[in-house]
Amino acid sequence: MEKQKWWQKGIIYQIYPKSFMDTTGSGTGDLPGITSKLDYLRDLGVGAVWLTPVYPSPMVDNGYDIADYTGIDPSYGTMEDFDRLVTEAKKRGIRIVMDLVFNHSSDHHAWFLESKKDRTNPRADWYIWRDAKPNGSAPTNWRSIFGGSAWTWCEERGQYYLHTFAPQQPDLNWENPEVRRALYDAARFWLDKGVYGFRIDAITYIKKPMEFKDGKPDGKDGMAGVHFMTANTPGILDFLREFRREVFKGHDLFSVGEANGVAPDELKDWVGERGVFDMLFEFSHMLLSFQEGEVWCYPREPLAGKPLEGWTPSDGWKLTELKRALSASQAATRDNGWYPIFFENHDQPRSVNHFFPKGADTKKAAKAMATVLLTLRGTPFIFQGQELGFANVGWPSIEEYNDISSHGQYEFALKEGFTPEQAMGFVHLFSRDNARTPMQWDATVNAGFTSGKAKPWLPVHDDYAVVNAEVEARDPDSVLSWYHKLVQFRREHQELTAGDYEELMPESEEVYAFARTLGHSRLITVVNFSLNEVKLPEEITRGRAILLSSHGEEAGAVLHPLEARVYGTCQD
Ligand code: BGC
Repeated sequence: MEKQKWWQKGIIYQIYPKSFMDTTGSGTGDLPGITSKLDYLRDLGVGAVWLTPVYPSPMVDNGYDIADYTGIDPSYGTMEDFDRLVTEAKKRGIRIVMDLVFNHSSDHHAWFLESKKDRTNPRADWYIWRDAKPNGSAPTNWRSIFGGSAWTWCEERGQYYLHTFAPQQPDLNWENPEVRRALYDAARFWLDKGVYGFRIDAITYIKKPMEFKDGKPDGKDGMAGVHFMTANTPGILDFLREFRREVFKGHDLFSVGEANGVAPDELKDWVGERGVFDMLFEFSHMLLSFQEGEVWCYPREPLAGKPLEGWTPSDGWKLTELKRALSASQAATRDNGWYPIFFENHDQPRSVNHFFPKGADTKKAAKAMATVLLTLRGTPFIFQGQELGFANVGWPSIEEYNDISSHGQYEFALKEGFTPEQAMGFVHLFSRDNARTPMQWDATVNAGFTSGKAKPWLPVHDDYAVVNAEVEARDPDSVLSWYHKLVQFRREHQELTAGDYEELMPESEEVYAFARTLGHSRLITVVNFSLNEVKLPEEITRGRAILLSSHGEEAGAVLHPLEARVYGTCQD
């Protein structure tokens, strides 16, 4: 067997710095806060940390609107704080991975400020400018991902500019070699600082079509989602191959692209030997709740249009669909590339609310999800708080939400004819703020996230007295302790890092079961996603010992609701 790379064996932990740990009392997290928690991450077995953007930014999209690609936002600290973080992390065997947001910058970036002045300045062509239609309207009917037109009029220059996301996030013009060079320089700046790789944001949107045409309207607003028009456009790989050559060559680093719109059969061009990245985040298992291909809009039939009360996303699809999506991704990365396993990130609701039936016990659900996360084939990504069993929030009014996309989603749902209550229902289920509430470190005021008097930038979840790192570290039955156990188990069983994957019981709508086989050794994971007791088939249980059970000593012939187990090799 070929020797595995560090990022294939390790676990990656995603930090949303604004919500991780505040050491200044400002109410927002900072870099020294992250440094102060490195021991916690080391103890969890984390091999690398992916930091979402910490660059200077007006924070319209919490840092995904970058105003300077080679700086640190003062709210997070200084460049010295960053250097210290890299050094201290390294001492603990933790590598830092940065987020590159290269599809767009902030409208406050010096490049854009210059570009928008007129049509002849040296950076006039750094963004995507177009004339209005003869009637003065936007060049196309494209809807931005956060809602509203993907074009904004610029009075100064007398033209529209394109933004796949918010108007404050103008798309960069990758056709211009100077733009590409400036971006590559920025990436190399961070490599020189000792970072070990990148998560590359929204990368499938960088190549625009040759011709800009109206798309078929997919909503009552007469617009077409921009992602249908610009994702994964022919020619994109030429840019990415150049990017790889210019930035990655000669470095022992790892890369994971965020890649909406790449189909499994195209993966070979994107990852692995002939590909451009090591891994690709694709979302087939995360988007089951949505209308075909839609992102951040509203749930698909049969649920769209019905009252949402009492609804959970998993009512909208069957477990077999989730399993099929996961198995397809496993198959697509079997012989080529590698799979990043994730069920949460800063854009997704909490997995305990996303993948389980209403009424599911949060703690049990969190352990069930953890077991899938840490025993599938690929690199597990843990999103902050997931290891503690964080759950969604549900604030009563849209004004309480910070997430720019939740506001867009709310407006869009109203335009589509949903009632304000239904529109709020969508926000509760899918708002990105669900993932962004502050970390819960202990049971003191504000969950120990901030020492100061300032209010945390988002309210702390009201379960913090029970769900927090300090309490859970002391409780052998907690979600955190289950993570520790699984991480240790994964370390001791090479089947989990290097073995093959095979789905079992594919017809079951209750249980996700799969085997991980290496040579003669075969581990079997079984996870009950339902609230029923399930009797497992003999082929799975006969002659096999239960090596791990989330029900501990009580594990018996019948799988309890939400129970997760790992069986050992058959001894018959
Ligand atoms: C990031 C989002 C961000 C968007 C625009 C993404 O896909 O993960 O958080 O809002 O790109 O940069």
